[in-house]
Amino acid sequence: MESLSYLPFPSLTTPRLGLRPLTLADTDFVFQHFADPLVAKYLMDAPPLTDRAEAEAIIRFYLEPEAKNRNRWGIALGPAGPLIGTCGFHKWDQDHHHAEVGYDLSPEHWGQGYMAEALHAALDCGFARMNLHRVDAMVYVENERSVRLLQKLGFQIEGILRDYFCQDGFFYDHYVLALLK
Ligand SMILES: CC(C)(COP(=O)(O)OP(=O)(O)OC[C@H]1O[C@@H](n2cnc3c(N)ncnc32)[C@H](O)[C@@H]1OP(=O)(O)O)[C@@H](O)C(=O)NCCC(=O)NCCS
Repeated sequence: MESLSYLPFPSLTTPRLGLRPLTLADTDFVFQHFADPLVAKYLMDAPPLTDRAEAEAIIRFYLEPEAKNRNRWGIALGPAGPLIGTCGFHKWDQDHHHAEVGYDLSPEHWGQGYMAEALHAALDCGFARMNLHRVDAMVYVENERSVRLLQKLGFQIEGILRDYFCQDGFFYDHYVLALLK
């Protein structure tokens, strides 16, 4: 299948959700979303946001024209409803056909199967349009909701990276999970 590496990631729809690339118009959502300690607790890249400019920097990072090894969809309730979370791929290695998935949902929407639904669509896009063979996920071992979600989607735990991430002076183990096409 022809690689779509130089085309934008498409918008996707599911029965209840719309996934569309984040834009700067989403800065207020991204700020309040990643300022929530419950959302940020198990995200490896950053502590909770404290400044709106940090949210804008996150969106610009995904908008960089050369940044075709990553993307981030905003997850909307309905085709054009309010955003309730984000998901996407990073570390896309086109030679070896793998990428890592990341995702986060606002806590008031947890427990309703929204992220499973969003990731179904994202993974279908990854396997069919990005020509991925393997999708990786790195998850704090304490993040039981996330591990359960991934296992429900067919991911398998392949091992533990001991003391992989250091936060506030403490080291945390991470599961490596993966799903093969
Ligand atoms: C990880 C995270 C996305 C999981 O969210 P979630 O809402 O628990 O995940 P799901 O969308 O799979 O919903 C699961 C629950 O919804 C329930 N549910 C309700 N209605 C449902 C429906 N129509 N379809 C499917 N599940 C439904 C299910 O019972 C399921 O619970 P179970 O797995 O105990 O059976 C969320 O906790 C989060 O955003 N955390 C903060 C950020 C984070 O940690 N990201 C991951 C970093 S690795």
